[in-house]
Amino acid sequence: MFLKSLSGRFLLLTIIFVMIAEILIFVPSIARFRFDYLTERLERSQIASLSVLAASNAMVDADLEDELLSNAGVLSIALRRDAIRELVLALPMPGVVAETFDLRDASAWALMRDALRTLFIQDHRVIRVIGEPVKGGGLQIEATLIETPLKQAMLDYGRTIFYLSLLISVFTAALLFLAVRWFIVRPISRVVSSMVAFQESPEDVRSIIVPDAGVSELRAAETALQDMQNRIAGSLKQKDRLAQLGGAVAKISHDLRNMLTTAQLFTDRIEMSTDPAVAKTAPKLVNSLNRAINLCEQTLTFGKAEEAAPNLTAFRLSEIVGDVVDSEVLRDTGGLSELVVEVPEDLEVAADPEQLFRVIINLARNARQAIENSGKAGQVKVSASQNSTETIITVADNGPGLPKKAQDNIFKPFQGGTRREGTGLGLAIAAELVRGHGGRLDLVKTGEAGTTFSIILPNTA
Ligand SMILES: Nc1ncnc2c1ncn2[C@@H]1O[C@H](COP(=O)(O)OP(=O)(O)OP(=O)(O)O)[C@@H](O)[C@H]1O
Ligand SMILES: [Mg+2]
Repeated sequence: MFLKSLSGRFLLLTIIFVMIAEILIFVPSIARFRFDYLTERLERSQIASLSVLAASNAMVDADLEDELLSNAGVLSIALRRDAIRELVLALPMPGVVAETFDLRDASAWALMRDALRTLFIQDHRVIRVIGEPVKGGGLQIEATLIETPLKQAMLDYGRTIFYLSLLISVFTAALLFLAVRWFIVRPISRVVSSMVAFQESPEDVRSIIVPDAGVSELRAAETALQDMQNRIAGSLKQKDRLAQLGGAVAKISHDLRNMLTTAQLFTDRIEMSTDPAVAKTAPKLVNSLNRAINLCEQTLTFGKAEEAAPNLTAFRLSEIVGDVVDSEVLRDTGGLSELVVEVPEDLEVAADPEQLFRVIINLARNARQAIENSGKAGQVKVSASQNSTETIITVADNGPGLPKKAQDNIFKPFQGGTRREGTGLGLAIAAELVRGHGGRLDLVKTGEAGTTFSIILPNTA
């Protein structure tokens, strides 16, 4: 679990990386160690040989010879001066010389290779080393020695390096761990807990983060989060207010509609007034009241955030379209428009008859109103066709086409309306009702030649 956290990963990775780095420098340093070890043996051999040469006749007794050699840590010493090689000191050899190493001009690669070989060789070997401790003196020294103590010293050295590396990596990792916790993990945890707190209570201002990270990237994240939280909190507040306002509007519309309906009843009496001037105003009053009632009703319908789910039944489309014609004929006042129906008698649809009626009448009425407002005679045609998957009901007219504002805001509530007496809700409601059936309402074309809408309904049983 700990290793899955950011700081845990950093801790582990640092230890691994430092160890890798230490391994990379281990080989050169162990080669250096071996080189120094052998050079030191040669130097000691040189001192021993010099003391022999200083003695009279260059002869020493066996005890002194033993002591000199063991002090130098070698088995034998030979000097080579001006191409003449002379054995100065020697102990009995425990075996033959297995390998000779010339330190005078050994390359770094050769030194590293020989050091690794020394580490892995199992035999108890005798080796010869050649060197020139005093550079340019023309004096060259050869010494033979047993390799095992060298190997042991190298292993001890390697072990020390390993423990040291481990210590360094653990120490570095611990420091890094603390740094990561402080600079990265702590700010990230703050961001996360602010997100969680905000999710739980977005209206509580205390859950909005106050940026304080020192690392610029994390500070940018905190600032962005703060910005987002402020905006969400703002729009939630606004939504809340709008919802309250919507509720109030719905109540007002409801009561207003009732009052207007009552007022409508009195217009009949006004119509019967003996005063011709009063009787003449009656139709205008009726019209105004109708519009006001329509506005209230549409607002109320839209206020129900979602329309009731359609109650699907199979019925003949021509019946519903017939109802539309009947009610539109009643409303037709200008006599400019003609409503034509081209729906096959036996075509059946699976839909909510009441809702489909509202959709078609909205489209047909819009078309009629557009024609009437244009002042030219025109035709509205309702037709339908069916294939294996869907039913397409088309409402087409040859009126003036949709104004730009209506096109830009098509199907958007309150925004697309251009008629003074309209509310701009008809198309939005119609589109929502069709969507509720799993279908869609499309504006097929609009222009000077007229407008065509199509209702596409899936043929579900
Ligand atoms: N067939 C059409 N031809 C020309 N313009 C149309 C047609 N249908 C709709 N429009 C335009 O689109 C606008 C939006 O129509 P919509 O039915 O949504 O609202 P409305 O008719 O103004 O008001 P209401 O909510 O009373 O229906 C209309 O105001 C009208 O300008
Ligand atoms: Mg309309």
